[in-house]
Amino acid sequence: MQATSRVPTSAQTGIHEHLARLLDRHVGSPFRKPYADYNRAAFDASFERRQQVAPNAPLILDACCGVGESSIALARAFPQHYVIGVDQSESRLMRGKPDGLVVPPNLDLVRADLVDYWRLMRDAGIRLDRHYLLYPNPWPKIGHVSRRWHGHPVFPAMLELGGVLECRSNWRIYVEEFSFATQRLTRQAAVCEAYAPAEALTPFERKYFNSGHALFRTVVNLGSPSA
Ligand SMILES: C[S@@+](CC[C@H](N)C(=O)[O-])C[C@H]1O[C@@H](n2cnc3c(N)ncnc32)[C@H](O)[C@@H]1O
Repeated sequence: MQATSRVPTSAQTGIHEHLARLLDRHVGSPFRKPYADYNRAAFDASFERRQQVAPNAPLILDACCGVGESSIALARAFPQHYVIGVDQSESRLMRGKPDGLVVPPNLDLVRADLVDYWRLMRDAGIRLDRHYLLYPNPWPKIGHVSRRWHGHPVFPAMLELGGVLECRSNWRIYVEEFSFATQRLTRQAAVCEAYAPAEALTPFERKYFNSGHALFRTVVNLGSPSA
């Protein structure tokens, strides 16, 4: 991947002025979009696999995992955990992995829309130990705030999964908003911090870092799996 990417540009200079109102609306009115059959099938099949491989292992979700490079790294770094990487793009998930990156046995890469997958996890009472959202699409236009995950009606369900939640982006405002939204809904302190990885965890992180971008993240503990 070439190191020539651009930092998202936006007319927004800080947290979106309507984000608080949007969040309160999403908390006050349950999100009832029907589940697509293919997402239900993907969810059921993935948790059947988990049941066979590691039913009692603590769970890590790598949401928007892209080609799954970070999912593989996480599965290796946490060999006692079971990692599920989810992305809606079949072609990204199927893309050949860099040399030496073999999918470990404690990892499952799943093609699904997280708008459904997150809610299906929540409905099933599943709790995470760790939850990663690495370089989600930023949707930097002011009018696109509800396309950012923290502005989307699925966000409260995503937070209910608990665990140590980490979001990274090269757009500072995205992480500031994500922190603000997480703190508003969970009452857990969440801050946006500058971040320089020792080694890139994902292809987008590598691309942005090699392009000289500042990187930002928030890490917030939303409670243990048994909580
Ligand atoms: C900018 S890429 C980042 C990929 C990877 N995390 C990385 O850092 O290299 C954003 C990813 O989010 C995925 N995505 C966007 N909306 C999604 C959704 N509703 N459900 C699942 N994946 C989604 C896209 O397919 C894409 O792979």
